[in-house]
Amino acid sequence: MTITLSVIKADVGGYVGHSESHPDVLAKAEQCLAKAKGERLLIDYHVTKCGDDLQLIMTHQQGEDGERIHKLAWDTFVDCTQVARDLKLHGAGQDLLSDAFTGTVKGLGPGVAEMEFEERVAETILIFMADKTSAGAWNMPLYRIFADPFNTIGLVIAANMHTGFAFEVHDIKEHKKITFNAPEEIYDLLVFIGAPSRYMVKAVYHRETKEIAAVSSTQRLSLIAGRYVGKDDPVCVVRSQGQFPAVGEVLEPFTLPLLVEGWMRGSHHGPLMPVAIEDSTPTRFDGPPRVASLGFQLSGGKLVGPRDMFGDKSFDNARQQANDIADFLRRHGPFEPHRLPLEEMEYTTMPQVAKKLEGRFVDLD
Ligand code: F6R
Ligand code: MG
Ligand code: MG
Repeated sequence: MTITLSVIKADVGGYVGHSESHPDVLAKAEQCLAKAKGERLLIDYHVTKCGDDLQLIMTHQQGEDGERIHKLAWDTFVDCTQVARDLKLHGAGQDLLSDAFTGTVKGLGPGVAEMEFEERVAETILIFMADKTSAGAWNMPLYRIFADPFNTIGLVIAANMHTGFAFEVHDIKEHKKITFNAPEEIYDLLVFIGAPSRYMVKAVYHRETKEIAAVSSTQRLSLIAGRYVGKDDPVCVVRSQGQFPAVGEVLEPFTLPLLVEGWMRGSHHGPLMPVAIEDSTPTRFDGPPRVASLGFQLSGGKLVGPRDMFGDKSFDNARQQANDIADFLRRHGPFEPHRLPLEEMEYTTMPQVAKKLEGRFVDLD
């Protein structure tokens, strides 16, 4: 059975500030998607949140970029924005950058990760959702999962993974893409994906079966809007088990609270803390950045689950480390490298302040 799994997300309003989603907004989304399931447009769905981001997880047979699915997501965000406006939530409709739907939500603000595949006998899916960070945050975890034998022992000892995986990398500034084969091209791959603000792993494929293994959202809000409107807060879908890395191999990279850009005003480096959904409530300095993960088994497109994967106690040390790193970084205040480098600050609110002071600069002798 060919299934499309679509994860489409947007920040349509925060509660309180940018720290959390309001239950009424989630309830409205639930209502919209239940109707679409009743009309058989969706096979199944799960509505959730990560911090102030509304997450629509949907299965259907409309294919990737299916106009009816994108319209459903857009209309759901519009309806939820109305709820957010009525409650005067903060930043209501923040990520909806267009007045009208234009056939796809891509380029209109929401983040999108979609994949179409033939459902396996047992189809294990892990969905990752981040808040207070940028698209590109998945580069290091995806590298570790699909190319690093120190993380994924299956690459070494499982015959069905030994040929490795192919990484599709997007240059989101130049609008170009390139594919690298791991393991033989990992040094070339790392030249680019080590710079995650520009080069992003869009998708990963099994090299022997050509099956899609992972897909991520690469929408950068600042590049779409041409100004700072909030962080991308990206999502990523990973297929697991069998010819793909096991659940534990997929989750293992998140034991490192890797440094990502985002946090307060989208202008700081901070540790990515793995948390259960209910703990995706970034409050300290509007952070630190969070990642949550829901696991499902698919059965004829039905989402059996979710399991809240980072609820497990084995991620306690990573959370502790993230808090320690947060303490350390915060002591740098407005200084780099806690604050982002100047080039990245171009996409924040700082240039407006700098512009005011332009005339005060005089030539050096
Ligand atoms: C970061 C984020 C917050 C806001 C900050 C100011 O992604 O969303 O840190 O940038 O709370 O928010 P505004 O400008 O909406 O008052
Ligand atoms: Mg927000
Ligand atoms: Mg957010």
